[in-house]
Amino acid sequence: MTEKYRVMVVGCGHVGLVTGASLAHIGHQVVCVDKNEERLSALTEGRVPFYEPGFGEFLAQSGSRLQFTTELAPAVREVDMVFITVDTPQGKDGSADLSNVATVARTIGRVLSGSHREHPLIVVNKSTVPVGSGDYVSMLIRDGAEEVGDGNANFLVASNPEFLREGTALYDSLFPDRIVVGADSRETLDSLRALYKPIIEQSFSTELDPRPKVAIPFVTTDLASAEMLKYAANAFLATKISFINEISNLCEMVGADVGSVAYGIGLDRRIGSRFLSAGIGWGGSCFPKDVAALRSMAYEYEGYQPMLLDAVVAVNERQRKHVISKLQRELHTLKGKRITLLGLSFKPNTDDLREAPSLKIAHALHSLGARVVGYDPVAGKATMMRSPGMLKVVFDPYEALAGAHAAVVVTDWDEFRALDLERAASLMHKPPLLVDGRNALDVREVEAAGIRYRGFGHG
Ligand code: UGA
Repeated sequence: MTEKYRVMVVGCGHVGLVTGASLAHIGHQVVCVDKNEERLSALTEGRVPFYEPGFGEFLAQSGSRLQFTTELAPAVREVDMVFITVDTPQGKDGSADLSNVATVARTIGRVLSGSHREHPLIVVNKSTVPVGSGDYVSMLIRDGAEEVGDGNANFLVASNPEFLREGTALYDSLFPDRIVVGADSRETLDSLRALYKPIIEQSFSTELDPRPKVAIPFVTTDLASAEMLKYAANAFLATKISFINEISNLCEMVGADVGSVAYGIGLDRRIGSRFLSAGIGWGGSCFPKDVAALRSMAYEYEGYQPMLLDAVVAVNERQRKHVISKLQRELHTLKGKRITLLGLSFKPNTDDLREAPSLKIAHALHSLGARVVGYDPVAGKATMMRSPGMLKVVFDPYEALAGAHAAVVVTDWDEFRALDLERAASLMHKPPLLVDGRNALDVREVEAAGIRYRGFGHG
């Protein structure tokens, strides 16, 4: 028998909503809280504030097990656990800004002060926070309790980092590679194991993944290690991409093919084949922010320079510039040239533009005097609002390509692999050029259509 918990999730962003919907799906009673009234009223009408294939339908199936409110305080009294999933944006010095987490923790403290609970409230940090934040949250809850009473608050703190990818967050939540929980008490670890039991045992009903079910590793550790583990995971993945991008640049110099190299090294199980796609580098709301936060944690220690992380970032910044130099090599001056960006979101299956390479590349091209046109299957409107004047957004890929001296694949949406290349060639300025920033298209097919192809890491 699975124990049913009453859970509150604070922060209805991607992580909060996916966590809330998944916990409701496995049988818990969930209330999602967000101070943004507009967002909440959209959610109660079934409208999701981000793009993820299939998530809207999944959310709609939650029924009364999933509720929404803007009122944090009353809900705290009713629940067994609170998940903090508010955002921790990057501060000016690269460190994570914890003000949203702090506000929630203080409010919880104020509500808990003097309230007589049978069991301690378990406060679970899911937001990505610097190492030591678990203790910081405890301190703030006690501060909040002192503001209105004697400081007595019955609670326990845990860290439960998320490893959800945008675009497939729901899938990652229900079928994770592992669940990690850090806490200082056995009681907390046991409660979280009980909460996640249906996921750990893969015993919940779903048609989302037909593969045979295998139990999910449940990793328990102390608070600080769980917090560091999240940063280390993202930093390692970012390092893997910067590593293959460095190799890709060397491949270009010596006349080797990075695709074959990545395939061959990836078969070594110590290396693994995923996250070895070379191209214009990593972006999004997580890798840039988390690598910056980890670097800034390191710089807090006198005399320590995180050399590997510094290089990982430097390689990533250089990759974006390679797009410009590839265009310049072929087209010479970019003044007055029409350049089409295919894909604007930071990766496919999301409309997220945070740290999207498209905006940086558009900015650089614009300042070199090029006329930039962009197309994206879902992020077109959002781009128009973010970058007025810098690039013209159109809503049809062939319209975007008409008259273009060059096209750049910035995001590897499947739609671009299915482009009618002959039609594209006939619409583009002659001779047409394609710079494939994701090595997503087949070079032979592109060249067969009469388009010059320039990828990353080919001799
Ligand atoms: C990432 C992690 O993959 C998640 O595990 C983590 O939970 C999440 O950050 C987070 O911290 O919230 P996400 O940012 O959604 O997820 O995107 P990824 O699919 O990891 O891609 C990140 C970037 O790397 C994208 O810009 C992508 O285009 C790029 N990438 C990825 C490459 O350039 N090459 C690759 O081989 C793979």
